[in-house]
Amino acid sequence: MAESKATLSVDGKEIAELPILSGTAGNDVIDIRTLGSKGYFTYDPGFLATASCESEITFIDGGKGVLQHRGYAIDDLAKKADYLEVCYILLNGKAPSQEEYNDFVNIITNHTMVHEQLAHFFQGFRPDAHPMAMLCGVVGALSSFYHDDLDIADRNQRLRCAHRLVAKMPTIAAMAYKYSIGQPFVYPRNDLSYAENFLHMMFSVPAEEYKVSPTLARAMDRIFILHADHEQNASTSTVRLAGSSGANPYACIAAGVASLWGPAHGGANEACLTMLEEIGDVSRVDEFVARAKDKSDPFRLMGFGHRVYKNFDPRATVMRETCHEVLKELGIQDPLLDVAMALEKVALEDPYFIEKKLYPNVDFYSGIILKAIGIPTSMFTVIFALSRTVGWCSHWDEMLTQPGQKIGRPRQNYTGELNKEFTPLDSHK
Ligand code: CMC
Repeated sequence: MAESKATLSVDGKEIAELPILSGTAGNDVIDIRTLGSKGYFTYDPGFLATASCESEITFIDGGKGVLQHRGYAIDDLAKKADYLEVCYILLNGKAPSQEEYNDFVNIITNHTMVHEQLAHFFQGFRPDAHPMAMLCGVVGALSSFYHDDLDIADRNQRLRCAHRLVAKMPTIAAMAYKYSIGQPFVYPRNDLSYAENFLHMMFSVPAEEYKVSPTLARAMDRIFILHADHEQNASTSTVRLAGSSGANPYACIAAGVASLWGPAHGGANEACLTMLEEIGDVSRVDEFVARAKDKSDPFRLMGFGHRVYKNFDPRATVMRETCHEVLKELGIQDPLLDVAMALEKVALEDPYFIEKKLYPNVDFYSGIILKAIGIPTSMFTVIFALSRTVGWCSHWDEMLTQPGQKIGRPRQNYTGELNKEFTPLDSHK
């Protein structure tokens, strides 16, 4: 079949014939790589219509609410797999056999401890430091501890880095929490599952072992699964861009952590809970919904809307179920959770939100679940980072596997001044 082409004309004059590339699904892409040589760049701040890479990892159809990892639907994975199985799938491209799964769990379990000296890094932070600040610093510092796997051209070493990161993130995340509340760090336990172990490191104290409820461990595992990857989002693109220069994986993942921190991205779950606290009572929900609709008010309903999902967020559908399960199981009475449920109802029925396709997203429900589990708000984005680490590693590894990989270097539309005469300061004359 003849290759499709797009023709670009400027003022009626044809300047380029551009190949159109088709993936296995999703929009076709116009290959504009030769355009620079014709004297033009394309302009797309915010990457609204720009594919920055080819990828085989995750497919999203935002209009239809589809999310698949390596071809497996997210709701199947959330209901039928556990987080480490999803990690294996993301990193290796296929579901594991029982033996492969057992080996993988064994590898991750045996990498969960961190170098004892890493603990000293925390002492450098003020106890009231945001745990995301600690995570950025400590994850970056891993490159100074694990030198033996920094040859990024060697896939085995890349995978070993990914295993270490997936294994150590819960330990580091829990250490950040323990440090912030002045409790001793709790070592990982190899007899627990990934999610159970995280809850153990968060809530056990030397005087008393935390008894992990199976419902909460399952909810935690689902939160991990539903945040594991989301194709070329801001933090993943940050990891790819950082990695495109050949930077080491720990530095790249630290860059991803930093990018995730913002309230429009991973910080939304924390911002959502802060907003619920600000609303405070069901009687004030209408007032805040009115503010969200008021163009002159910058206030937005945190946990609502998504750049890609303009129908519904499939992760939110699973998360909503889990959220209601957890609240029922725990029989929690919390006015903030009442506010959340009232907000969900109003927003789902209000024409403004319906017309603009603003549905509760995954972070709306995950925030509520995390609060019900007893995890403090400041840890929400840390948990997102922990879960997303496998996605970041998978994309970083994929990028380095692809031949002809170039450093990421966007262009710009320069709108500043030019050719001004520079007058030195009198003291420099
Ligand atoms: N509350 C009220 N109005 C909203 C909201 C909201 N949460 N989100 C979007 N809108 C309005 C916005 O004012 C705009 O209206 P108009 O067309 O009249 O100017 C319209 O909806 C489109 O918004 P946009 O900002 O152009 O959409 P976007 O695709 O650039 O932004 C978003 C997506 C997620 C940044 C945005 O919806 C938002 O700020 N949501 C709240 C933060 C949040 O929950 N983020 C987490 C996303 S899920 C986790 C993740 O994957 O990172």
